[in-house]
Amino acid sequence: MSKVIVLASGKGGTGKSTVSVGLAVALVKLNKKVLLVDCDSGMRGVDLMLGVEKELVYDVSDAVGGGCDKSAAIYVTRNIYGLYMMPAALSAEDEVSPAVLRQLIEEIKDDYDYILIDSPAGTGSGFEAAAASADSALIVINPEPTSVRGCLNIHRKLTDMGVDDIRLVINRFEPERFRAMNIYRDLDQLIDISQTQLIAIVPEDVRIAAIAQKGNSGRESVPSMAAFVNLAARIEGENPPLAKKILGI
Ligand SMILES: Nc1ncnc2c1ncn2[C@@H]1O[C@H](COP(=O)(O)OP(=O)(O)O)[C@@H](O)[C@H]1O
Ligand SMILES: [Mg+2]
Repeated sequence: MSKVIVLASGKGGTGKSTVSVGLAVALVKLNKKVLLVDCDSGMRGVDLMLGVEKELVYDVSDAVGGGCDKSAAIYVTRNIYGLYMMPAALSAEDEVSPAVLRQLIEEIKDDYDYILIDSPAGTGSGFEAAAASADSALIVINPEPTSVRGCLNIHRKLTDMGVDDIRLVINRFEPERFRAMNIYRDLDQLIDISQTQLIAIVPEDVRIAAIAQKGNSGRESVPSMAAFVNLAARIEGENPPLAKKILGI
């Protein structure tokens, strides 16, 4: 059965797109067929991270508006076999509505094991469209109060929308920085305040950023990407150690 997962955050720039792409690649490596839908109209970026930007003709707004066949807006990524992507509209004015995107996802979901939806930040209409067809959600935060507050807002909104399988991804974690900021007693306190069950901790690593920004996702990997592999395994119902244990925090 296919699973639809939205990646969301209250605050912008927490790493939703980077984590979406990392998770998509890790799921494909588990032999899953994955479609990554970029829902960040006007600010799309997943195409660049997967190195398909030059091939794009149609996007999600064409697919729902009848401007093209649905399949014409789905691109095969060449970086890794088994990963497909659907780009967001180039312009924010072409944002799709929750109802039409939900219908599109319903029509295509049986073709994939996983559909990952990369949401824009916040709880606005773009987020509502991204979350409308999701069975579960990953809230991506950075380990600091403004981001944790955003998590509470998004969690509430997701619950109101009927999405109740919600997990927390702490991205860009650096133990020294976390300790030096001296805001939280420990990571457990941050997780308690976020009121969201932890599923992954992704380390701060410039190489994760560089691989994605160069369009090499799926082609290159570095040891810190084990966090994405463990996240994919947990989504698949396995129980690999959380990085929390590995990092000793
Ligand atoms: N684990 C990480 N380590 C280092 N830099 C990261 C990591 N994850 C994301 N980044 C960087 O953080 C910034 C925001 O990431 P992005 O995925 O575009 O966030 P969002 O989609 O939430 O706006 C980018 O510059 C990206 O390269
Ligand atoms: Mg993004």
